[in-house]
Amino acid sequence: MAFDLKEIIAARLGENYQLHERHLNRTLVQAQRVIGFDKVYARAEGAYLYDMDNRPYLDFLSGYSVFNIGRNHPVVKQAIRDVLDLDLPNMVQMDCSLLSGLLAEALTKRTPSHLNAVFFCNSGTEAMEGALKFARAATGGKRAVSLASAFHGLSLGSLSLMGCESFTEGFGPLMEGFDARVPLDDIEALDRQLCSRDVAALVIETVQGKGCQTSRTDFFIRAQELCRKYGTLLISDEVQTGLGRTGKMFGFQHWNLEPDIITLAKTLSGGYVPCGAIMTRRDIYQKTFSRMDRCVVHSTTFGRNNLAMACGLAALEVIDDEKLVVRGKGLMIGIEFHEPQEFKLKMAWKLLHKIDKVLFAQMIVTQMLSKHRILTQVAGHAMDVMKILPPLIIGEKEVDMFVNALDDVLTECRKFPGPMWEIGNNFVKAALGSKRAADVRPTVSA
Ligand SMILES: Cc1ncc(COP(=O)(O)O)c(C=O)c1O
Repeated sequence: MAFDLKEIIAARLGENYQLHERHLNRTLVQAQRVIGFDKVYARAEGAYLYDMDNRPYLDFLSGYSVFNIGRNHPVVKQAIRDVLDLDLPNMVQMDCSLLSGLLAEALTKRTPSHLNAVFFCNSGTEAMEGALKFARAATGGKRAVSLASAFHGLSLGSLSLMGCESFTEGFGPLMEGFDARVPLDDIEALDRQLCSRDVAALVIETVQGKGCQTSRTDFFIRAQELCRKYGTLLISDEVQTGLGRTGKMFGFQHWNLEPDIITLAKTLSGGYVPCGAIMTRRDIYQKTFSRMDRCVVHSTTFGRNNLAMACGLAALEVIDDEKLVVRGKGLMIGIEFHEPQEFKLKMAWKLLHKIDKVLFAQMIVTQMLSKHRILTQVAGHAMDVMKILPPLIIGEKEVDMFVNALDDVLTECRKFPGPMWEIGNNFVKAALGSKRAADVRPTVSA
């Protein structure tokens, strides 16, 4: 029997949640049902997802910043077709492939000149793991310092940089020496950490994925000075902020920083194929690959695969061609809600917060999807913040759709009792019916 993927999808689309319940993460399925996110999307294009009835949903989440250039971009699609048509040799391993060389060249052309050596991998967290290894190898330091509220990925090294118990609970012991976290903008606290001169790396996100917070001071500039003073390498995690998301090519450029290492992933390959990268100075790179017998001391089988590399080349071209970086001042936005003044609303707010601090924001996000078919997400655990990460291709029409919908949802929030608070009520019931309140707010990533 001939394998026919189109036929399989046509026959079985709609079974998504049953399949996942049976074979994958059934807790995620349960949670998606509670928050009304259990949609079946059948198609995607640009800034829109379409369900089985071909109804459009405005995607203001972009797969957590994967689809900066929009979904299913024709240029990236064509690059994939070309790789397949050419029957290229792929992952020979004991060769040097052309496409990985070309993508490294293309990246370095778009990056400050000191970041001239590239390592390719498959994800953001893998890029961070590699960056931490590079920093240890280059400095001899063992410790890594990060910022409070950081998110760097969920494999063990990256996870160890995070203070958020919602992610770390049950997975300890974490990496020794990775437990120092400095509040954003607290330069004295950072000095106290780095002055021992045994810190290999300070890891920052210039705009944090969690909560969308950024520095309001000259913290990053002074942090870089401290790094230079104490022999610590500065790693800028550009997995989410990189490649145009914040209105510059990289987040660190808002402060004219010169990080020693940056990490990239997400939108790097335009949304089809996993791809991550570490970019650093040649001298740092060579401290890891320091001798011939260490030439593959850090490596990964799929790291330079042709599909990812071709997609990366195409995606960078699209970012340039469509001038996506200069559209606006950044599209990584947190919208923070505050306790209402009116008595009844205040009580309802307090009840939700008693169960879990994120439920109000979750209520807004749920109604944005159910009523207005706009996909957004809460910005992190235990916070009143919703996050929007639209694709960088959006225009006035999409902005108006979002603003009008949010206005409508917030107006509805002022009616108590009312349909909005009914959603909140359902969350409370689901939380009280489950072992732990946390079970109703599971889909938080960065
Ligand atoms: C800033 C940042 N770093 C690292 C990661 C981890 O990337 P990945 O999910 O590809 O491992 C993320 C993911 O959301 C992120 O936002």
